[in-house]
Amino acid sequence: MDLVIRNGTVVTAGGTYAADIGIAEGKIAQIGGTFDAGLPALDASGLYVMPGGVDVHTHLDAADAGVHSADDFRTGTIAAACGGTTTVVDFCAQAHGQSLSDAIAFWDSKAEGAAAVDYGYHIIVTDMNESVFEELAGLPERGITSFKLFMAYRGTNMIDDVTLLRALDQARRSDALVMVHAENGDAADYLRDRFAAEGKTTPYYHALSRPPRVEAEATARALALAEIVDTPIYIVHLTCGEALDELIRAKRRGVRAYAETCTQYLYLTREDLARPDFEGAKFVFTPPARTEADHQILWDALANRTLDAISSDHCSWSFKDHKSRGRDDFRKIPNGAPGVEERLMMIYQGVNEGRITLCDFVDLVATRPARLFGMFPRKGTISVGADADLVLWDPEAECVIAQRDMHNAMDYSSYEGRKVKGMPRSVLLRGKLIVEDRNYIGTPGEGTFLRRDRFAARNRD
Ligand code: URP
Ligand code: ZN
Ligand code: ZN
Ligand code: ZN
Repeated sequence: MDLVIRNGTVVTAGGTYAADIGIAEGKIAQIGGTFDAGLPALDASGLYVMPGGVDVHTHLDAADAGVHSADDFRTGTIAAACGGTTTVVDFCAQAHGQSLSDAIAFWDSKAEGAAAVDYGYHIIVTDMNESVFEELAGLPERGITSFKLFMAYRGTNMIDDVTLLRALDQARRSDALVMVHAENGDAADYLRDRFAAEGKTTPYYHALSRPPRVEAEATARALALAEIVDTPIYIVHLTCGEALDELIRAKRRGVRAYAETCTQYLYLTREDLARPDFEGAKFVFTPPARTEADHQILWDALANRTLDAISSDHCSWSFKDHKSRGRDDFRKIPNGAPGVEERLMMIYQGVNEGRITLCDFVDLVATRPARLFGMFPRKGTISVGADADLVLWDPEAECVIAQRDMHNAMDYSSYEGRKVKGMPRSVLLRGKLIVEDRNYIGTPGEGTFLRRDRFAARNRD
């Protein structure tokens, strides 16, 4: 044994129990039983020992309309680590005309030598042609077992239904999982441009131009297309009761439908986009924040696992340099908000408030996403043989969320000023202590690329 975590309460998706954990060569080697008194040890008295968070939706080192995100892999993954997340699956975006291999090589150049936590990629396919289609078939061999398509953003990322069908069909053959950004892009653009023509150009109109039915229509269509070719599908950032109803209907028909929501959809509302002095721009992301009633609906759907995961959709467009481009026209505000560091602390408030259990928390932020995306049981749980990615969580520690304490390269937090109780005390990546008391003490570059398993390898039931 290289290290023993003593006196903690182990928390997994399946239960909680008191046990010491022995780590050898970066892996969990023993749970419970006795350990030599002389071994190096961390004392976890009064703390939960949980698997490191798994965030399957980040956009690190991203570009949008000529704007380059504030966070690169180094700052984004240090922030992840400090918030208790030890695995991210980032979106590797294909540029128009680019091969998927070149997109991957480009993402490797961003991540290698920079990542503070382990990472994988989903590929965003924006330009599907015959050769890209062939490349898709080969991705699972390379450990990239999921790809994402957009039903919104015409002219940049949006694909048509035939492309989605073909991608789904290909995913079925190669046991990959297709992820869909489900919004009716044309409906959103139509409303957006109508508001702009009426001189309604403040950030609030971003929310009004993408009402729940815009999301629900595309969600229903994506689920129907998956059903038509009998393929599993994962809906990213589901936000509202209307879209959830479509998910439930599809599940009842037997569609193998999975979905996540994100932290922001549980705490922010469209009224945040109406904050004065252009502050609403901080909350411009798609789909938009909804209502308090939707928060409740989503928490319930999480508690009963109609929804499978909570991701951050971390996008780091700074207020000063990026969001400000849309001061006179909300259509020019880059979409997205940060949250990779805040995610666990914010979601844990759902435990404090009795909305989800402690085991639900671990399941939703780590175990289930690890399973769905081919990383379980190496990631997302505490079991012998798993990577020793562990968070020592202090359920009693309190703080007020403040951007000045965050480790990203941003200039705002969406949760500024919110009181939270429950924070990561120490974080281990493959047995090595990388965070202590919210200070990063690791070495960027020690995060490694994760070759993920194919979807069906773990999820065929
Ligand atoms: O507004 C968002 N969510 N921006 C990131 C891209 C996406 O749609 O996930
Ligand atoms: Zn870059
Ligand atoms: Zn999206
Ligand atoms: Zn996203």
